[in-house]
Amino acid sequence: MTDTLNKHHPHSPNGADDVSRNTSGNLDFDAILRARMSRRTLLKGSFAAATSSLFGIGLAGCNDSGGGGGAAVLALGFLAVAKHTDDVLTVPDGYTATVLYRLGDPVDGSVADYANDGSDSADSHAHRAGDHHDGMHWFGLNTAGTAPDSTNSRRGLLCMNHENITQIFLHTVAEVGAGLSTASRVAAQIDKEVNCHGVSVIEVVRDGGPFQVNKGSAYNRRLTAASLMDISGPARGSDLLKTKFSTGGTQTRGTLNNCANGYTPRGTYVTCEENWAGYFKRPASSTLGAKEAAAQTRYIGSGSNNGSYGWANPTGGDTSGTDLYSRWDITPGASADADYRNAANTMGWVVEVDPYSPASVPRKRTALGRFGHEGAMPAQAVSGKPLVYYMGDDARGEYIYKYVSNQNWDPADAATGGLVIGDKYLDDGRLYVARFDADGTGAWIELDIGNASIAAYAGYDFADQADVLINCRFAADAVGATPMDRPEWTGVHPDTGDIYVTLTNNSDRGKTGTTTGGQSRGLDAANPRYYDEDGSKGNVNGHIIRIREASGDHAATAFYWDVYLFGAEEDTTGGSSVNVSALTDDNDFSSPDGLWFSQKTPGLMWLQTDDGAYTDVTNCMMLAALPGSQGDGGAVAIANLAVPSNGGADQTVTTFAGKAAASDNLRRFLVGPKGCEITGITETPDGKAIFVNIQHPGENTSAANIGDPASYESNWPGTADVDRPRSSTVVITRDDGGVVGV
Ligand code: FEO
Ligand code: CA
Ligand code: CA
Repeated sequence: MTDTLNKHHPHSPNGADDVSRNTSGNLDFDAILRARMSRRTLLKGSFAAATSSLFGIGLAGCNDSGGGGGAAVLALGFLAVAKHTDDVLTVPDGYTATVLYRLGDPVDGSVADYANDGSDSADSHAHRAGDHHDGMHWFGLNTAGTAPDSTNSRRGLLCMNHENITQIFLHTVAEVGAGLSTASRVAAQIDKEVNCHGVSVIEVVRDGGPFQVNKGSAYNRRLTAASLMDISGPARGSDLLKTKFSTGGTQTRGTLNNCANGYTPRGTYVTCEENWAGYFKRPASSTLGAKEAAAQTRYIGSGSNNGSYGWANPTGGDTSGTDLYSRWDITPGASADADYRNAANTMGWVVEVDPYSPASVPRKRTALGRFGHEGAMPAQAVSGKPLVYYMGDDARGEYIYKYVSNQNWDPADAATGGLVIGDKYLDDGRLYVARFDADGTGAWIELDIGNASIAAYAGYDFADQADVLINCRFAADAVGATPMDRPEWTGVHPDTGDIYVTLTNNSDRGKTGTTTGGQSRGLDAANPRYYDEDGSKGNVNGHIIRIREASGDHAATAFYWDVYLFGAEEDTTGGSSVNVSALTDDNDFSSPDGLWFSQKTPGLMWLQTDDGAYTDVTNCMMLAALPGSQGDGGAVAIANLAVPSNGGADQTVTTFAGKAAASDNLRRFLVGPKGCEITGITETPDGKAIFVNIQHPGENTSAANIGDPASYESNWPGTADVDRPRSSTVVITRDDGGVVGV
């Protein structure tokens, strides 16, 4: 189902997270660059001095440590894994990867082992692992399994997201052969697909042998795209959230397309709704009122559509009596409280889940804004300071956001825990969007209805602050945020406080005109690269931007930035303007997505890829990194050849690149099986086991070949030429029992 242009993000059937609907015209580069260049030198020395002088803590030894991070003794403790295109998962010598939790595996004792031939019932899937495992976090339990314990490495809860499905592997050969037309779906097939989305909470225990799922645990739970959810925060009760299901706009059913994640210092999980937009059946936006049309076009698309999987279209109509299917149809009917015109407004949020309270109803935290939420990773919680979350909106030309709580963190709240404490920090705060300036500085701009640019924005007439949060992409457009090359995961370095954001790729970057739903985007300092080796593809390899908050305060509204790493093929024909970070055979990668800092080993960063540009040479991978700090490199001029948005002329863009990579600070740790992406990682508190998700192996298999397992792109983790592939969680440990990675 993947179109060729969007090949680099194959997991979404419509390439939905690769769609640009940002037509705001914000930025672009040239004017900013000229203005800044004229009054500010870009020389490395002065720039580094200017930034480092603002940070008095955590920097000793960083800027000259050769990329080794603040802890000088930290070193990668494994040999690089070779790239490959085989249907196997490879890890370094001295390490073992064990499959723990596969699509369809029972989460409790009520269902049988997974048949994995499409015959398992729809209802049974509410008690099985979902599909497309993604973001994940470990929550410790005590030895008896009766209470939270953040120090125990042998028993804990894994919370993980199930982002999407590989549809053909969920149904029988006959069902797939009959076609899976979005115009008319067997209701039970829809139910199964709905149940394969959402979140798993599973207890895992290690008692002498490898980790296993404790199917008898009272904590085990599945949330699906049908589970009851509360709507919380400033937009709760908004007219724009009222539906026939919840006429008060306070609840909805389902969490959807849960991609990356986050967590709170209160022992709760946050799961982030990314590509929800494509699931809804919709009319052409031209049939709607002006505001509704603008919002649908900006968030979902202007054309009519049955939705990615046709969930609104059960054969024979919706006879559920509870609108189980018609809730996916946002076509306006009689009134907002008698139809589901606002159902899509109840998706696109950060959702807080309490893993220790299996009966609790998750809360959608509207204060953090509504967009294509990739993830929401926190800065370190500091007593007496706000809680701060960094978030990417993953679509072409979308933005980077941060949330700052109004209440300061009180460590006593960690003991209380739960969603009620969450109300204090996640329902009351300020939402900001990032603008990256060409001189290496930037600004966080608050998205508040009191901002005249927002209140008077010509592109959308905001009713109130709830509307600003529900349609915050418009608010970000209004204040001149910088459109980025698809912001994915964020991570905060525990020592330096630097914020890292993966920008996975952007097929629009540097292009004129529209492509498949896209809007042209010129090059700018923060998105400086276009490369045409395989055709006109924009920024195909992606990069990782790095932010340092001014004055070392995560609540700051000014920052400094550089590009920590540029993805590239080590033997690219584009030379150093493409392989800017000097990647080698040990560490070259393309399309960074997952990014996560170990908490056990501060300074150790994991990097995961979701790529389609380098897949002729290698399957997707995970690397270990020891990043330095913002400003550890300098200004570089990137020579882009034949840039369409520049009339086909070459264009040189000056940016700020981090220190070049080397095998001692960036090294490939894992390569996955065919057709997968690597996404989601967590660790036990002792760092001696990491959990990694292998998403959608074999997803490029054609529906026409469903009857011939030997022809599948992948059979992992099952038997070659026999089994259907399954998204899976693997546990990776060192054979000598040591800490992973170092
Ligand atoms: Fe679900 Fe943006 O990756
Ligand atoms: Ca992702
Ligand atoms: Ca991705």
